[in-house]
Amino acid sequence: MSFYISGTGSSLPKKKVTNDDLSKILDTSDEWITSRTGISERRVLSSETLLDIAAEAGRNAMENAGTSPADIDMILCATLSGDFVTPSMSCLLKDRLGLNAKYVYDVNMACSGFVFALEMASVYFDAGKVNRVLVVCAEAISRLLDWNDRSSAILFGDGAGAVVLEKGDGLKDLVVNTKADSAVLHISGVESNSPFSEGYAKVDKRVVMDGQGVFIFAVSAITDGLSTMIEKNGLTPDDISMYLLHQANTRIINSARKRFGQPEEKFPHNIEKYGNTSSASIPILLDEVNRSGKLKKNDKIILGAFGAGLSTGFCLIEWQK
Ligand code: ACO
Repeated sequence: MSFYISGTGSSLPKKKVTNDDLSKILDTSDEWITSRTGISERRVLSSETLLDIAAEAGRNAMENAGTSPADIDMILCATLSGDFVTPSMSCLLKDRLGLNAKYVYDVNMACSGFVFALEMASVYFDAGKVNRVLVVCAEAISRLLDWNDRSSAILFGDGAGAVVLEKGDGLKDLVVNTKADSAVLHISGVESNSPFSEGYAKVDKRVVMDGQGVFIFAVSAITDGLSTMIEKNGLTPDDISMYLLHQANTRIINSARKRFGQPEEKFPHNIEKYGNTSSASIPILLDEVNRSGKLKKNDKIILGAFGAGLSTGFCLIEWQK
């Protein structure tokens, strides 16, 4: 099918915020956060813009792929937290990176955004419209949080991850799904200042999340999505070299790992350093494992994402670098 991943990149803001830092402004503790989530610290934008780290991740991915900006036909940016409402992050990236890209789109599918962007790219490859695509996932969730709400403020971090896709046979299967349920998890937009508004866009709370509801959804969605992808492709869990899952909670990652009886090294994680970076979490992790030399040619890798929507995305790839 359509493409293979020829390069990866990532970029994180320089400002680290530890659990102890949060304990000074919220009624929480390092012990509670690490035991319930696995997170020790996260990165938060301070002097940088989201475009700064998104562009650095994109540049790193192009360097890793040995591709020049002039060769990119399409740029997709997965984000729910761009620097502007408009222009889109993908337009800003086209300008900053000096791309020729003819097709330029943002994808807002929250934490599942990377897999949804890969799905969009595959359609353009299959239609013969593109030879090289840059996918950048960049999130500044710190701007959207209620920093007085300990149940959500401790979970998220900012960051960017990117991949270059080239025409080839690395994509073996890809499935996306949405359940259309905004009650369990949503982040409100900016309150309307229209003199004609009758409270339609009134914002009571920035992040509305039923933590346990999302947790229960995530555990069963990840287990079902992984089993379906493995069985549908005539594989067993042992045939998969690496499972790269959305980094939302180590308890969610571990429950999937135990369900499939797999060793820890096959379910890598970096949530302890970066928290939940939404759509950027899988490409940042992919960049880490790629650069650490852990991926070998022909390795089968499953990407598994879930997030607001409620949405899920699963993708089976064969590593071809
Ligand atoms: N520090 C200390 N205590 C806290 C904190 C905190 N930061 N947050 C909540 N508590 C308290 C609660 O008030 C509650 O106290 P109570 O028993 O006195 O009422 C107690 O801890 C237990 O709260 P729960 O919500 O039941 O804790 P739980 O074990 O479910 O963990 C968590 C909460 C970490 C949010 C978990 O449910 C989770 O990870 N859910 C998934 C969330 C997620 O992944 N969201 C992002 C989705 S991605 C996207 O698309 C944006």
